[in-house]
Amino acid sequence: MQLIDGNKISAEIKLEIAKEVEEFKANGGKTPHLAAILVGNDGASETYVSNKVKDCEQVGFLSTLVRYEDTITEKELLDKIVEINNDGDIDGLIVQLPLPKHISEQKVIETIHFKKDVDGFHPVNMGRLVLSLPSFIPATPFGITELIKRYHIETEGRNCVILGRSNIVGTPMNLLMSRKAYPGNCTVTVCHSKTKNIREICRNADIIIAAMGSVEFVTADMVKEGAVVIDVGITRIKSDKTKSGWKLTGDVKFDEVAPRCSFITPVPGGVGPMTRAALLKNTLMAAGKEIYL
Ligand code: GUN
Repeated sequence: MQLIDGNKISAEIKLEIAKEVEEFKANGGKTPHLAAILVGNDGASETYVSNKVKDCEQVGFLSTLVRYEDTITEKELLDKIVEINNDGDIDGLIVQLPLPKHISEQKVIETIHFKKDVDGFHPVNMGRLVLSLPSFIPATPFGITELIKRYHIETEGRNCVILGRSNIVGTPMNLLMSRKAYPGNCTVTVCHSKTKNIREICRNADIIIAAMGSVEFVTADMVKEGAVVIDVGITRIKSDKTKSGWKLTGDVKFDEVAPRCSFITPVPGGVGPMTRAALLKNTLMAAGKEIYL
């Protein structure tokens, strides 16, 4: 069993990006600039956004954080997005989700200009992904494909089971693993809350990507000997074994599943850091106009 080290790979990617930024600037290019909008005071969102800002600093990007109370109107938020769309210095824009109920997330996503949509959530980017055209790929699936590549995991002709069908992870992951490219060329099965025989379907999988946010759902009896298991779950649960009284737990019962696997990602330290690195990659591509002129 080989542990997939997301911390190590993401550190490598960050170094590569920092080097590219230096070269970019040395050749007269501008400093890549990411803007993030955070609405309200949700604890997890605060952590995610502050990590994104720290990551930008670490690789030499500029970042702008715009914060609003959760009383902001939808119109005020949409106006700010349009202002950032028109700001020539800003290359990428993310609006941290979830948003308060009175604001339409879909309207927000569709207002971000697709050329600055480094989250890859805009219908233009999603549509281009369906067509295998160059696009911004959502950060978590993008990060997972980097892990698969950098560990040289074979995918062609393999059965890949994806647990979860979210717009952010399950759906783009399905498109990536089935497309005619590496990593891809898999036979993909997407399981969700209405799937009847998840256990049997998983037992036939060469690759399992667990992204349904259900603590320790994947158990040893669901995993074929030699399978690759990628755990996207990240839920904070109470623990009497840590100083803080909390621990992060994935969708996979790691201790019993790991011995059966050829490769497995831990939680934390697997997919999480790769999501952060992938957003930086998308921002660098936005600044370099590598996807859209
Ligand atoms: N909330 C949870 N994940 C994400 C993400 O990847 N991007 C944004 N904007 N919000 C999120």
